[in-house]
Parts: sequence; C-alpha cells; structure tokens
Amino acid sequence: MDGQGFRDARRQLRLSQGDLKDALNRRLGRSYDKPKISRWENGHEPVPSDVAQCLGDLVAGRPQHARVIVLANQKGGVGKTTSAINLAYGLSRHASRVLLIDMDPQATATVGLLAATSIDLYRQGRTMNEVVLGAKPLSEVIVPHETMLESGRPLPFDLAGSHIDLAETDSRREPGFDAVLREALEDLRGSYDYVVIDAPPNLGVLTWMALAAAEDVIIPVRTEPYDAMGVGLILSTITKVQRRLNPSLRLAGILPTQYGRRKSVDREVLAHLAQAMADKAPVLEPVPESAVFGHAARNGRIAAEVSASSPAAQVYLRLAAAIAGGKALPVADIPLETRDSGEA
Ligand SMILES: Nc1ncnc2c1ncn2[C@@H]1O[C@H](COP(=O)(O)OP(=O)(O)OP(=O)(O)O)[C@@H](O)[C@H]1O
Ligand SMILES: [Mg+2]
Repeated sequence: MDGQGFRDARRQLRLSQGDLKDALNRRLGRSYDKPKISRWENGHEPVPSDVAQCLGDLVAGRPQHARVIVLANQKGGVGKTTSAINLAYGLSRHASRVLLIDMDPQATATVGLLAATSIDLYRQGRTMNEVVLGAKPLSEVIVPHETMLESGRPLPFDLAGSHIDLAETDSRREPGFDAVLREALEDLRGSYDYVVIDAPPNLGVLTWMALAAAEDVIIPVRTEPYDAMGVGLILSTITKVQRRLNPSLRLAGILPTQYGRRKSVDREVLAHLAQAMADKAPVLEPVPESAVFGHAARNGRIAAEVSASSPAAQVYLRLAAAIAGGKALPVADIPLETRDSGEA
C-alpha cells in the first residue's frame, strides 16, 4: 500500500489521523504517533505490511451506512440549497460516494445543477416524486456523477432531482408516509458515504420525510432578526421528529448565512443566536455574505468549486472537511462587542 492508498483508506473510514493512530495502536498493540501517520501518507516512510493489512480489515468491516445530513428551515431564502450544494461538493472532495437529494418542489438545486437536462429527467419520470409515491426505487431516479453538465464538466456527486409535481405529495395521506424517504434510502445506505438532503421552505411532510431519514440536521439561518426568531419553530419540529419518528436525529448546528461581519445588526443577531442556542446546538462558523454564490449559481456552477479560495466558500469546505474527518464542526467566534465598526 502506498501513501495515497493509505490516505484514501483513512478518508473512506472518515477518521482523522489521530483517530486512525488510536485504532491501529489498539488493534496492533503499538504506540504509533500522529506524525508517523503523516509520514506514511506523504510517502516519506513505507507503510508496514501489518499496518496495511489492519487498515484493509478496517475498511472491509466498516459500517455500510451512509451518513445522511439534511439542511432544513421553514424560512425561505436562508441558504438551504446553497449550503446543500456546497457541502455536498465539499464532501465529494473527501469521499467518493456522495448523493444530493433535492426534496424541494421548487427544484432549485436540480435546475441549478442540471439546467435543461432537468426537463428530460421529468419527462423520463426520474424525479423524487416517483420515489415518494412509491412508483420507483431511489436508485432508478439518481443521475450519476459521471453525467456531463452543460459546463462540459461532470457532476461532482450523484443527484436525485426534484420537480414541481413533488408539491402534490404534501396533500397525500397514507400510514407512515413520513418514513417513505428513510425506507427508500435503506437499500442505498451501503452505496454512499454521505447523503445530503435539501429540504423545502416549509414544515410540511417533505421536511418531515427528510428529518425522518437523517442522522444530522443543519439549520441555515440568515443573520436577520426575524429569521433568527423563526429558529424556535424548526427546533420544535426537530424535537417532535426525534420523539416520534427518528430518535437518532441529531441537531448538528445552526449555520448562520449571509453574515455581514461589519454590520452591527448581524453581529448582534449572531450573539443572540449563540445565547439562545447555548444549551441546544452549536452555532457554526458563519458563511459571509458574498457574491460568489449568486455568481456561481447563475453560471450553473458551485461556488466551492469555482471560487474555492473565497472566504465564503472556504467556510463550506472547512465544514465538509470537519464532517469527513470526524472532527468537531467549526463554531462561530462570537463577537464580544456589537458596536458598529463603521466599516459597513
Ligand atoms: N452567503 C451568501 N451570501 C450571499 N448570498 C447568498 C449566500 N447564501 C445564499 N445566497 C443567495 O441567497 C439566495 C437564497 O439562497 P438559497 O436558494 O440557497 O436559499 P434557500 O433557503 O434554499 O431558499 P428556498 O427556501 O427558496 O429554497 C440565492 O440567491 C443565493 O445565491
Ligand atoms: Mg432552496
């Protein structure tokens, strides 16, 4: 096994270098340190055969279980879709098997990524509506990541697309209907490392389905006073889903978006959010307000890919790296003073 193979295997296992070191030491009775792992990965030292064997065993025995992350908030325009796409892209840099599911009848992610091809999907009956109605298994509607986009590049992850007709499912009544997505994902859990779900801007059955299917929920919130006040509503929905449908659902964090570091109102809202969430959920590192998202979207691209070095895209890339590395998610640095700096 060479250094690259070693690193790929560690990433497949979603372990940090420190965690892998501990796992190897436990299994092999050694006392390797973290720099040793780096030296193997950088090819500065050969990977010992028993270590390679042990890593292979870990990969073979890893849980065949995708981690499902949903971006949800009943408020519109808070950055759910932007976060879902950029996070899915970021995760695809660390893990080969990422699926983005568009559960929003507005189909913003689907149309944004696939442009005209999204109409073909609808004509072919390859959208989430078919899955939700039980007409097709999820695997039959997925657009594989090899698909070439109009930009002449392949999709960076698999995509299960949406269409406006998904809105009709909101009025459907059927026992256990809110477990449909969880059920549909069951067969594919072994095929993906991460599944990212973009939820619609309401607390209807499509959002419940997404929450019922997930391990983690991230709530994007604009740092606007009214938007921040609405967080209580999605939190109480999450509590109900945890109690009634999905006890393994975890609130991974509140993700402030469109944050203006230099605006006193934004800093105040961020500080209030952190205070209100103190015993409930971490407030994650805010995504700055930035034109890169709108610019990328207008060109059918993903900001984290085309503007990877912009500070705003970097926040998503850091979040993805933390998730993929099994590390604590980056949290907001709460401003102590909230006076306007006058730089806005
Ligand atoms: N950090 C940001 N800075 C500036 N603009 C942003 C940022 N994040 C998202 N936007 C823009 O805000 C708008 C709404 O974002 P997005 O579509 O991701 O929100 P949403 O919550 O998915 O909306 P909906 O509820 O309608 O589905 C888009 O035009 C997007 O480009
Ligand atoms: Mg959206």
